[in-house]
Amino acid sequence: MLLAQMLRQAGVDHLVVERQSRQHVLSRIRAGVLEWGTVDTLRRAGVGERMNTEGHVHETINIAWGGTELLSVNTMERVGRLMMAYGQTEIQKDLYAAADAVDAEPIFEADGVALHNFHQHESGPASISFLANGVKDRIECDFIAGCDGFHGVSRSSIPKEARTEYEKLYPFGWLGILSETPPLPILLYANHERGFALCSMRNPLLSRYYVQCPLTDTIEDWSDDRFWTELLARLPPEQAGSLRTGPSIEKSIAPLRSFVSEPMRFGRLFLAGDAAHIVPPTGAKGLNLAVSDVHYLSSALIGHYHGDDTGLDSYSSTALARVWGAVRFSWWLTTLLHRFPDQTAFDGRTQAQELAHLARSERAQAAMAEQYVGLDY
Ligand code: PHB
Repeated sequence: MLLAQMLRQAGVDHLVVERQSRQHVLSRIRAGVLEWGTVDTLRRAGVGERMNTEGHVHETINIAWGGTELLSVNTMERVGRLMMAYGQTEIQKDLYAAADAVDAEPIFEADGVALHNFHQHESGPASISFLANGVKDRIECDFIAGCDGFHGVSRSSIPKEARTEYEKLYPFGWLGILSETPPLPILLYANHERGFALCSMRNPLLSRYYVQCPLTDTIEDWSDDRFWTELLARLPPEQAGSLRTGPSIEKSIAPLRSFVSEPMRFGRLFLAGDAAHIVPPTGAKGLNLAVSDVHYLSSALIGHYHGDDTGLDSYSSTALARVWGAVRFSWWLTTLLHRFPDQTAFDGRTQAQELAHLARSERAQAAMAEQYVGLDY
């Protein structure tokens, strides 16, 4: 939807084909910390108005560790940048509203989407076929942007021998809840012997919390009471004491994975976001990476219609360089903050040493902050 918005601003004709319904898309809770590059991109795209008033600016990244220690990194002081808390679901709402305002609704609930004629050697237009509202349709186009997520049809339409996949699975998941309670004023990560925890927010009356859990757990294993008890046990006493609990309004478990498929272009098909790469949520890079992909891809496509194909030709390598930066960072932060089931006493000591170093060293904090606030485009 952001790519569509940016193409629309530049007068490039396009159509969005969505497998799900609007309600389904808007009911999915995703991460909510925006890099400033994302904030700027949304503003430039003309969808920043509500974010500007409702978004909450974060100045610090906070890590509780060792039971009672709290390490706070002021990103403004360390690297001159801030972050903003504003939910992905809210951005999605704003993008739909912008499209509605100009009658540019996507085609929702498109079934059996298939991509055709997009290989380099194939001539004539590429096309997408699908079934919507009981009618078969086929749309011809110059290019296909595969922005359809990890399970979408785009990446799997690229012949297997033409892509290389890199993957790392983590032996735990995140149980997340949304609760209509005032959040802690800070973004707080916790490394605790019982496992990782995270306190985040959506707005002054809506909190988002997570605890690390075994992959075999289901949400039926986690009553609200059990969740709050476990969360509070993993936080330092001061934060646990001030945290307001209440009924959950959403609860889900997500496995953690790092995944990259290269290249991000095949002929006239360009992949963006989760279609090409997945990061674990530690560091909230998934949405931000999709936005930087779309930044590169929109300018490459717009360049093409001004007679310049250099952006299209460099899209995959440019996007992948930034993707691997975020993949490495979110792997590192995941490794630093979680308890691994097979963790040895040695692993525990090196992890604690790294946290102690981070607490002491402004240079180490700057290195973390630089990546957390997001690498330049
Ligand atoms: C969230 O607010 O959902 C969130 C925040 C920070 C993360 C991941 C998720 O690292």
